[in-house]
Amino acid sequence: MISEKQRAAEAAVEYVKDGMIVGLGTGSTTEFAVRKLGEMVRDGLAIRGIPTSDVTKKLAEDEGIPLIDFSETMYIDLTIDGADEIDADLNMIKGGGAALLREKIVASASRAEIIIVSGQKYVKQLGGFPLPVEVIPFGWQVIFNELETLGGSPDLRLKQGQPLLTDQGNFIIDCRFRQIIAATQLEQRLNMIPGVVENGLFIGLCSRMILADGEKIVVRERKKR
Ligand code: A5P
Repeated sequence: MISEKQRAAEAAVEYVKDGMIVGLGTGSTTEFAVRKLGEMVRDGLAIRGIPTSDVTKKLAEDEGIPLIDFSETMYIDLTIDGADEIDADLNMIKGGGAALLREKIVASASRAEIIIVSGQKYVKQLGGFPLPVEVIPFGWQVIFNELETLGGSPDLRLKQGQPLLTDQGNFIIDCRFRQIIAATQLEQRLNMIPGVVENGLFIGLCSRMILADGEKIVVRERKKR
């Protein structure tokens, strides 16, 4: 029995064509896509990948997918990534896997971004999932305070009792806002706080959502900003 995650991932890789530069997302859903791409590469597909995290880099290397970085290209043809929440406008919360910073750089350099999700990630209103905010370690307490002033309930993400370190050596503060109504304004407001490197609101960056809901595959499209 194929899971919804795998179903969505396998539908997404059908958009990958010979010669493409492909952004490789992070998370358990994208892992299915990277593994499938590995199979396709071993069967002769010629692509070059740009991974969004050290974990995905390792997986792609193990799968034999040739990798490059932004010293070799300024754009990506197509990125396949997951999300923690996605709404009807294809705006998202990402960063549950702590890779939001590289994911957002890769998404903004991508001509097309396919987001693969299982049914329960599709929401009417963003905000049920706490919004990940990546901050530099120095003065994180000040940022924490600022997030409370903005009406959020922040929580420093820990790993084995210590602040979790992202691939860039930063911390993550997960901030619950309950309902996020003005997502674009919040995204900009958060990034104006000194010490905030990026936040997990991805607005206008998804061009196609592939959602697996039981046996059904739902595809929705929109133009990237
Ligand atoms: C990684 O930082 C996230 O943005 C992931 O894309 C997101 O957490 C989805 O992960 P899963 O596919 O594991 O749910």
